[in-house]
Amino acid sequence: MEALKQKILDEGRVLPGNVLKVDSFLNQQIDVKLMEAIGKEFALRFADDSIDKVLSIESSGIAPALMVAKELGVPMVFARKRKSLTISENVYSVDLFSYTTQKHTQVIVDQRFLTAGERILIIDDFLANGQAAEGLLKIISRAQAIPVGLGVLIEKSFQSGRQLLEKANVRTESLVRISSLVDGHVIFSDDGK
Ligand code: G4P
Ligand code: NA
Ligand code: NA
Repeated sequence: MEALKQKILDEGRVLPGNVLKVDSFLNQQIDVKLMEAIGKEFALRFADDSIDKVLSIESSGIAPALMVAKELGVPMVFARKRKSLTISENVYSVDLFSYTTQKHTQVIVDQRFLTAGERILIIDDFLANGQAAEGLLKIISRAQAIPVGLGVLIEKSFQSGRQLLEKANVRTESLVRISSLVDGHVIFSDDGK
């Protein structure tokens, strides 16, 4: 997606540790027009997939997921993060481990908001190591819902998330694929659209 690529080139900053900072339009301030265009793009890509619900994870997945859900005319649900491992009832809960932050987080969705047989589209901001996506897939599986696909705005192709999702046989659509952030330069994969 050209508009997102251009925004990354204009406003993205590469931080140490292969992190792309995009807080001026995605992770803190949000470019609403861009999010709207992103919503339309994913809605087109998944137009023939009879999506019943969009599932995301707080906090940075919520903005794009909301726009996709609006375009598809379906509800959006986001998984919440809990710091402590307290037991809650009537929730689907998984433990996420972030390689980036080396921290465990418990992620939960109330059982009322996912129903067996529902066709679910997962939307998130980044695909890095795929831990968030894998956790959401587990939750979908517990609910006996159907994971139709994953849409991410920015895929870091040099990390392992894509392989993980291919192994899990989940259709993954990235709006932008980055093959390298070495030396502060953003290099896009040729096949990134
Ligand atoms: P994974 O889900 O793909 O395995 O990602 P990982 O655990 O490695 O990433 C942890 C957090 O860092 C996630 O957000 C993820 O979206 C974000 N992240 C990964 N790589 C980048 C990057 O290059 N730039 C930015 N800006 N974020 C990145 P989170 O902790 O769940 O936070 P949030 O959704 O509340 O923002
Ligand atoms: Na995220
Ligand atoms: Na983030």
